[in-house]
Amino acid sequence: GVPYPVFTRQEVGQHRSLAERVWVTYGGEVFDITDFVELHPGGKSKILLAAGGALEPFWAMYAVHSQEHVLEILQAYKVGEL
Ligand code: HEM
Repeated sequence: GVPYPVFTRQEVGQHRSLAERVWVTYGGEVFDITDFVELHPGGKSKILLAAGGALEPFWAMYAVHSQEHVLEILQAYKVGEL
């Protein structure tokens, strides 16, 4: 398939609000989760804490995300790689 575009962590960090769109990283992958923010079962304010950066420190605190179905949701929003 067509390769994903590559972004730097600095570029990801420029997407921290709904107006700029909300991007996060997980491993070496980049996701535009703007359209999921309002759907998040844990609420909008919590998910926005990770905006512009890595999910890992937050998901380490909320083990509810250690499930295959959560990763499947995330994968649907992939836009690139680091
Ligand atoms: C729950 C997805 C980011 C905090 C959930 C659930 C999903 C989800 C699917 C429900 C899981 C279940 O009950 O089976 C995501 C995705 C995220 C994300 C796709 C990023 C793209 C975050 C962040 C935080 C967070 C950054 C905290 C700073 C929570 C909490 C719950 C939750 C506290 C539990 C809500 C409850 O059951 O009352 N998340 N999450 N999430 N999430 Fe997230």
